[in-house]
Amino acid sequence: MTDTTIKTPSWVQALDKYKASKPIEDVAAELGLKPEDIVMLVSNENPTGMSEKVKEAVAKAALSLNRYPDADSYHLQKAIARKYGVPQNWVVLGNGSSELLGLTAQMVLSEGTTAIYPQYSFSLYPMVAKLCGAKTVEVPATDDFNADLQAILDAIDSTTRLIFLTNPNNPTGTYLAENDILHFLDQVPPHILVFFDEAYVEFLEPALQCDSLEMVRRFPNVMIARTFSKAYGLAGARVGYAIAQPGILEMLNRVRHPFNVNDLSQIAALAALEDQDFVKRTLEVNRKGLEYLSKQFDELGLQYMGLHANFITVKVGPADQIIDFLMKNGVIVRRMASYHLPEWIRVTVGTPSQNQKFIELLKRALKEFGDKQ
Ligand SMILES: Cc1ncc(COP(=O)(O)O)c(C=O)c1O
Repeated sequence: MTDTTIKTPSWVQALDKYKASKPIEDVAAELGLKPEDIVMLVSNENPTGMSEKVKEAVAKAALSLNRYPDADSYHLQKAIARKYGVPQNWVVLGNGSSELLGLTAQMVLSEGTTAIYPQYSFSLYPMVAKLCGAKTVEVPATDDFNADLQAILDAIDSTTRLIFLTNPNNPTGTYLAENDILHFLDQVPPHILVFFDEAYVEFLEPALQCDSLEMVRRFPNVMIARTFSKAYGLAGARVGYAIAQPGILEMLNRVRHPFNVNDLSQIAALAALEDQDFVKRTLEVNRKGLEYLSKQFDELGLQYMGLHANFITVKVGPADQIIDFLMKNGVIVRRMASYHLPEWIRVTVGTPSQNQKFIELLKRALKEFGDKQ
């Protein structure tokens, strides 16, 4: 029981705080290591840092912060609309795509309604839905850890208002084929909003990417969400965007606070969008990292999930001991116990030297704690 005199709704009392990883300085202090000795492979951030062009743009802008930012992130919104060939009012900016998925839940959910999401989805989906007093339905995944689209359709009932889908998916690294998605969307009743989360889409091989913009044009109940936190290297700036038809976004803008994306972040994201060479280099580092890590896992005989994002979820056996061992040696990876996968860990793809350090430590840990799979 939380000690407070104020009254809160029962669904707020039932929630837990989101467990984010600690800042690198805190982790280092706890371990008695220097921050530069810590390898953070825990939050699927960009291991290559950020674009030099972003640094320059932000340094300049940091000298004039006396005015409010543009309430709609006008210039960034315009640049995103131009990049994707959609009208400007088809784009809304958020304080990270996390804010957008929370606002979307607020827009469509209330007590007596339901949100559906696949098993092994981003943990914020049920959180934001429950925060609105709504019920959540988690639909079991397929045997290969992917979203079971038919089972999601079967789970729809008269209370359903929102479906979350992620492509490629965190934490499984799996992806959905375009034909399957289109077949699915054709059958979702048009009053149900499909939140199509593409936080990792840049990492998906181009041949496997679906034309999500065409989906938005075709289906007035589909919203796609993307972020600058991953491929663009701006997790700290907190910028994400939604693309959807104006009918949805006019409603979303009623829920959204003005000035939700601060000036520096708008400027950072605009400069990042223009530096596609940085994204290209990031994708190359990631591709090689996935190749290296998966090869190492193959040699170690470890089972792993999909290779379509900037992380790999791998079955290591005694995960708690291994995570502890890695942490004491300065490498931080994600525990998967909250997904009922206690033998698995999720590791973000790092730079070549970070990946090597992780693998060397993993080998030592496996030797020490035994291969108990
Ligand atoms: C699937 C998915 N969606 C959305 C987000 C949120 O990203 P952000 O709020 O940084 O844009 C994450 C972050 O890890 C994620 O994994």
